[in-house]
Amino acid sequence: KHFWMRGERPEHPVWRDEATDIWHVYGYPEALEVLNNTEVYSSQTARRFAPENGEQFAEGNLTQLDPPEHRELRKLAAHAFTPRMVAALEPRVAEITHELIDQLQGRDRFDLVANLAYPLPIIVISEMLGVPASDYPLFKQWVDDMMAANGRYDLSDDAEKQAQDARDQIEASERITEYLLEHAGERRKRGRDDLLTRFVEAEVDGQRLTDYQIAKVCNLLLVAGHATTAMLLTNSVLCLDAFPDQQAKVRADRSLVLTAFEEVHRFMTPVSAVYRVTSTETELAGKRIPPERMVIVWTAAANRDDRQFTDPNTFDVTRDPNPHIGFGRGIHFCLGAPLARLEGRVALDIIFDRYAVLGLDPQTPPTFVPSQDLISVQDLHITV
Ligand code: HEM
Repeated sequence: KHFWMRGERPEHPVWRDEATDIWHVYGYPEALEVLNNTEVYSSQTARRFAPENGEQFAEGNLTQLDPPEHRELRKLAAHAFTPRMVAALEPRVAEITHELIDQLQGRDRFDLVANLAYPLPIIVISEMLGVPASDYPLFKQWVDDMMAANGRYDLSDDAEKQAQDARDQIEASERITEYLLEHAGERRKRGRDDLLTRFVEAEVDGQRLTDYQIAKVCNLLLVAGHATTAMLLTNSVLCLDAFPDQQAKVRADRSLVLTAFEEVHRFMTPVSAVYRVTSTETELAGKRIPPERMVIVWTAAANRDDRQFTDPNTFDVTRDPNPHIGFGRGIHFCLGAPLARLEGRVALDIIFDRYAVLGLDPQTPPTFVPSQDLISVQDLHITV
């Protein structure tokens, strides 16, 4: 549905939509210019563009903060969520993947999204946080409710319905926060070996997180790390199915799984855009942008910019280096990137081990995720 998915170049790297007064950034160097300049391009979009619930949505939300508030919270969050901790999860991620595939024993066709891509990241992050396994269905439902309301909001142009969708989103998010608040309080009384406890104990420059901040950070981890990882895993299977020669290459040389995963992220970027708002007047690609304007950085389009990538419309599992910006860039660079990469690498490797042949089920074609900036499918029926 987007021009870059058809392999077309944008007419201009930066373009103003006159109907909406929104600025769209499609070029790679221009995208970096925006993402690296937080003074001009602020992340506080909800506060400025969602008067109904912006404050509530933005409170304690890392993605909505600018320096210096962002720096402090990010430091604390990163302190408790280190690459070493993530690396130690590898055996457990493999075990969960095998368990999920074991449950499909004897079936030669199934929905990869519902049975593997979605459950894997939510089980991993829940276990990391340390919430009881019996509660997964509960907050999976809340996360789904949030995503559904978000999707409806995105595609609707009826202001009244949008306001209701925004309220639904906040309500689902509040339920997750309340739930986590309760657990954070428990850890403060009695620590355990989990992420919630690490957040309670985290101290950087003499500062500690409040229970509320912990609940908000964990809420973000749950929401930001769930559907995104599921979509990237799903897109991996889609791309490798679409390019059988590339799949054969990865099967023959498993050391390519990681570069293949990165290439999927570039070629079919699931989180296709990030949002900013101008704090002051500025100039980008020779165009003057006034203050208080919404700027949408189409990272997915930038990932196909031929000024940065050779043959950008060729899916090449050996592409290396691959400086795609699917995880963003600059101070908001995805905190969960090491976890997402680990899950992707382990899951793909095991999928190849367990299924010698794998293809899309022609009888049940997939449907796109209903959103303008999330590029993936809601279901992916495959035969194995
Ligand atoms: C930030 C994408 C997985 C947690 C971001 C941003 C992107 C992104 C594009 C930047 C947002 C911006 O600049 O406004 C993705 C994708 C993922 C993924 C495509 C999966 C493949 C995860 C996981 C977690 C996570 C697994 C955690 C468990 C976060 C957090 C931020 C973030 C906390 C905010 C960082 C900040 O504002 O400082 N992610 N993400 N993400 N992501 Fe991810």
